[in-house]
Amino acid sequence: MKGVVLAGGLGTRLHPLTKITNKHLLPVYKKPMIYYPIEMLVDAGITDIMIVTGGNSAGDFLRLIGNGKDFGLSRIHYTYQEGEGGIADALSLAEEFTEGEKFVVVLGDNILEKGVREGVSAFEKQETGARIFLTEVDHPWEYGIAEIEGDRVKRIIEKPKDPPTNLAVIGVYMYSPDVFDMIRKLEPSARGELEITDVNNMYINAGGLEYQVLDGWWLDAGENHEALLQANITVARSEGADV
Ligand code: G1P
Repeated sequence: MKGVVLAGGLGTRLHPLTKITNKHLLPVYKKPMIYYPIEMLVDAGITDIMIVTGGNSAGDFLRLIGNGKDFGLSRIHYTYQEGEGGIADALSLAEEFTEGEKFVVVLGDNILEKGVREGVSAFEKQETGARIFLTEVDHPWEYGIAEIEGDRVKRIIEKPKDPPTNLAVIGVYMYSPDVFDMIRKLEPSARGELEITDVNNMYINAGGLEYQVLDGWWLDAGENHEALLQANITVARSEGADV
């Protein structure tokens, strides 16, 4: 399976840290943030990846990651997202790269304690549709939140004012190639972006969305300054640092 890492955006929620650099290049303990999703994909056996960057310092990704050899990648592709079109818009740039196969998408600021190895093997067995991962959060209004009915996701609400659950959709998504047709049908949301939540709701309506609850902690390191600090502390502690 192939992987796509989304590392665009202007990172305005992290100003002034992101005024001159891309948020995915900021430090999380000993490494730049984007190392974590790349290493996670490699750990799950995915060594053919595309990085979608954008905004500031796009050239620095090439200097940092190069041909991907140091990560154990067999192949790396880069592309550039113009403007602030949202996650689904960034993903649309990976259509040719995925060559009509199923693939995994990771937001470049997401860090998972236990990785996605198990999720990838579950998706390998899933013939069609999409797969998402849910985890309980303290601030559900900051995320896409899943409403559950029986063993199915009934719908996902993006940043709900009145959250029906505290089950957030994390930034790891697994899709079949039909995702690109769905993205072509999207209209920009109120924040002017093509929303990944709208894509996932299309899969729900087509009966093709599977989910699993995440095992271990999840960090959305680039959400805001507090989340970035928390990510540094959590990762440092997980590696034995006395902080
Ligand atoms: C995005 C998604 C949201 C998801 C979150 C996870 O939010 O829109 O559904 O829960 O990533 O990190 P954003 O970071 O664009 O606000």
